[in-house]
Amino acid sequence: MSQDSALLTPVTLGALSLPNRAIMAPLTRCRATVPGNVPNEMMRTYYRQRAGAGLIISEATQVVPEGQGYPATPGIHSDEQQAGWEMITRAVHDEGGRIVLQLWHVGRVSHSDFQPGGKLPVAPSAIAIDGEGYVPSGEKKPFETPRALETEEIPELVEAYARATERALAAGFDGVEVHAANGYLIDEFLRDGTNKRTDRYGGTLENRMRLLREVLAAVIRVAGAERTGVRISPLQPFNGMHDSDPWGTFSYVVRELNPFGLAYLHIAGMGEDAPGDAGPAFDLAELVPLFEGPVIRNYQYDQARAERDIEAGRAAAVAFGVPFIANPDLVERFRLDAPLNEPDTSTFYGGGEKGYIDYPTLDQA
Ligand SMILES: Cc1cc2nc3c(=O)[nH]c(=O)nc-3n(C[C@H](O)[C@H](O)[C@H](O)COP(=O)(O)O)c2cc1C
Repeated sequence: MSQDSALLTPVTLGALSLPNRAIMAPLTRCRATVPGNVPNEMMRTYYRQRAGAGLIISEATQVVPEGQGYPATPGIHSDEQQAGWEMITRAVHDEGGRIVLQLWHVGRVSHSDFQPGGKLPVAPSAIAIDGEGYVPSGEKKPFETPRALETEEIPELVEAYARATERALAAGFDGVEVHAANGYLIDEFLRDGTNKRTDRYGGTLENRMRLLREVLAAVIRVAGAERTGVRISPLQPFNGMHDSDPWGTFSYVVRELNPFGLAYLHIAGMGEDAPGDAGPAFDLAELVPLFEGPVIRNYQYDQARAERDIEAGRAAAVAFGVPFIANPDLVERFRLDAPLNEPDTSTFYGGGEKGYIDYPTLDQA
């Protein structure tokens, strides 16, 4: 397989030249140093070990303290965090890799225990998620009913993405990915199950996409479109997400992204196999031809399916999540048709070196 592998050929995503098309998906691992949510040396080792990826997309990283929703996730809003990330980007570059930062605000997935001053988390509308979410101790509490953002607050929120992008570039990142997926703040504005606003940020498709447009414009002002990507997850039901017409919403969003000239669009699964009710399903591959730039696909790919989708033009590149957790040398294993390590799900979120930086490479096995 490796001789005629499409996955292992180079590709260009905007200003990013990748030696292969196997991308490390963004993976929250909850191991930043607390207090401060500062990237640390253990994280440096983890990312350096994975520098063989065509591109590393960092774990989701809160742009403001209010954007945090899980314990020990790193931020990009303080000098200490910026310095921590700088140490990491340098290590990845020294190993010959490339890394972009995923810009994150969790919206209603947060809890007042994370919020400065113990205030309520914010969202497009005051609608709670059913069930329980994390608090800083790592325990779970019922999700709270968030406070709907005032129209006048939104420009400041948008500027926070621009400031975070400035810090990301100063820390040496090759670019940024705007996290508009998985039921976090921007996704909450896009889908009509969570956005019941009556101002210019709700109602019509144009209005629901306005926050994403404004965030992209602000980020692009700092990084340039050729170093900016965006991630969406049209059929992802997690975090209580639903849309009455996911195809209508996301075919519109994807077409409307074209004028931005982004480095890439990243479409994350699920597909028709989604366990919850995200709304009427469709084949995510149908979105690919609507986008005029390169598309990264993701969700439960193995090498064979990645090769097929790239060859068929259904993806320019494929992001691997869990396979990169368990296989720091994933690309090398693809090249050699070597077996993969089994992931240990009990160490995905939080903890120390175990299940984080101790997965063996082929050489070590
Ligand atoms: C431990 C873990 C952490 C994740 N963290 C993030 C994240 O920070 N940002 C994001 O967009 N997706 C996140 N995801 C979703 C992954 O990026 C990816 O979409 C998912 O794992 C499916 O791809 P895979 O089958 O290749 O693992 C996470 C998934 C896992 C398992």
